[in-house]
Amino acid sequence: MNRKYRKTIIAGNWKMNKTPSETKEFMTALKGMLPRGRWCDIALCVPAVCIPAAVRAMRETRVGIGAENCNANPSGAYTGEIATNMLVDAGCKYVIIGHSERRAMGETNEDVNAKVLAALEAGLIPIMCCGETLEQRETGITSEWIAMQIKAGLKGVPEEKIRKIVIAYEPIWAIGTGRTATPEQAQEVCEEIRTVVRKLYSSKVARAVSILYGGSMNDKNAYELLAQPDIDGGLIGGASLVPEKFVKIIESANQNAE
Ligand code: 13P
Repeated sequence: MNRKYRKTIIAGNWKMNKTPSETKEFMTALKGMLPRGRWCDIALCVPAVCIPAAVRAMRETRVGIGAENCNANPSGAYTGEIATNMLVDAGCKYVIIGHSERRAMGETNEDVNAKVLAALEAGLIPIMCCGETLEQRETGITSEWIAMQIKAGLKGVPEEKIRKIVIAYEPIWAIGTGRTATPEQAQEVCEEIRTVVRKLYSSKVARAVSILYGGSMNDKNAYELLAQPDIDGGLIGGASLVPEKFVKIIESANQNAE
């Protein structure tokens, strides 16, 4: 983390978990245990049907609600899809884009780029995900792969808008496996992502962009991961479903890392 130059963000990704009723229960519990200190921004990205309950419950708090996906088109014949202006109107502040689980369902870098542009246009904060497979890591092409995903995802994003983007590095082999990247492994790639942003934009922009780590981050390993200079927060799956664990991760952001 480096709070002097950029925001620390602890974000949850609920994936396909919890009903609207369970959302209300979770949010009520979370509200009762949120730490007082404002060490970081807090986001919870929830299934689309849970957004209204989440927004309603967290209205008076500093927790921003987000979606887990969006469609890049403004409206039209896209059965089952949700446009960015609908998310804004429903009270969303964030949207996860390009999660590896969606890429596995066929989402391409072009789709990710179109969604990033649409989200920015609508005033949402995109949390753009990237990450390599175990095979890519073992082949030694992690840096190239991540650089390609970042460049493709940010294509056409002007300098004044890049500041609104959050990037999440999520090694696919660490997602839901309990096998976290070591703080050194995560730091190495997050630093490389910052270098890519520096080359695409400027040092000033690279210094200001928040880069999160995701992949089996939990209440036990968060402190060490967040102590890394280029890791500005977390995108948390499993541990964001339990209020006590999520709060502990938020508390882990209360450290003097620069
Ligand atoms: P887990 O924290 O469950 O590994 O999930 C990470 C993730 O995919 C967040 O987007």
